Amino acid sequence: MATLPIIENFAEEMTAIFKDLHTHPEIGFEEVRTSGIVAEKLRDFGVDEIHTGIGKTGVVGIIKGNGEGARRIGLRADMDALPIHEETNLPYASQTPGVMHACGHDSHTTMLLGAAKYLAETRNFNGTVVLIFQPAEEGLGGARGMLADGLFEKFPCDEIYGMHNYPNGQPGKVGVTKGTAMAGASFFDIHIQGKGSHAAMPQMSRDPLIVASALVGQIQSIVSRNVAPLDACVLSVTEIHSGSAYNIVPDTARLAGTIRYFKDEVCELAEKRMKELCDGFAVAYGVEIRIDLRNIFDVLNNDPALSDAYLEAAADIVGTENVTDTDDPATGSEDFADMLKVVPGSYVKLGHNGTTGLHNPSFYLDPEILPVGASIMARIAERRLSA
Ligand code: NI
Repeated sequence: MATLPIIENFAEEMTAIFKDLHTHPEIGFEEVRTSGIVAEKLRDFGVDEIHTGIGKTGVVGIIKGNGEGARRIGLRADMDALPIHEETNLPYASQTPGVMHACGHDSHTTMLLGAAKYLAETRNFNGTVVLIFQPAEEGLGGARGMLADGLFEKFPCDEIYGMHNYPNGQPGKVGVTKGTAMAGASFFDIHIQGKGSHAAMPQMSRDPLIVASALVGQIQSIVSRNVAPLDACVLSVTEIHSGSAYNIVPDTARLAGTIRYFKDEVCELAEKRMKELCDGFAVAYGVEIRIDLRNIFDVLNNDPALSDAYLEAAADIVGTENVTDTDDPATGSEDFADMLKVVPGSYVKLGHNGTTGLHNPSFYLDPEILPVGASIMARIAERRLSA
């Protein structure tokens, strides 16, 4: 695995930045320390313009190349951590109880900083590189926040590229799914207002637990009976809250969960059927049911031609034997999708030595991958802005 020489020389400092970010993780839209470090580093590297406060805690940096070219390439990394208590015992483990970089966004931030340093130093491209440090990727709407703040109006991009680490134990393996690559997602809350009673006299109640448990099963019929068999849809109820004692039928129950889909019309159908089931159950059981549905992530679509270009750039670094365009679509979601809906581009996975899954308290990211990721991001910008 090769890395670009300047980035190789910067590897030790990148590892130090990564470990520092890992020790001090911040939840979405609270990345004040992190975005402060990003802005400070970009200033040190001689980046031409630094704009803070885009999407609350987002940062944008601008690097102009050595020609008069008008083309503009965006490189994006996310910065936020998760509400998970770290259990890795690493010397640089999180010092913030209950908050952890368990998705490796600290590495993404570091890789983009590495690319920024290289590009600001070499400027071996004709056009403009837009560095996008995004807050709040973990379901809090950081991409939409930056878009609402006029990200692409203020800093137009012709193409954008992003990257996620992948703990598959295969360092330097780069994979992409051309076309539809990751699912869109909605979150839902269902509030059931029944009527409580003594548990020994349930005839006095409108038992919300009976309704809640029946709904969990019935909701699955949307996937098995309403969505066409060749269309994918995931519908998971992930929370049930109700009750306080052995001998009380409670007043209320609340369910929560998520819908994942690859076509907007599948999501619309699932949401419509959920509302109809809730309305029907309310009548059938004489309770009140309120459903709150919120779309969180768009479907992520990778531009096929730009995905090929991204893999070619990656192959310059990791070799053609380590890049593949045969990855299957994932039912996970990623809010870079919202940016890709506005500007074409591509999102790849970069393998590393860790093997514990993302969002796990024991997640480990191998720092060896930092200069590799940084080199790939720098390389795609150079290639797409070649004179
Ligand atoms: Ni992530």
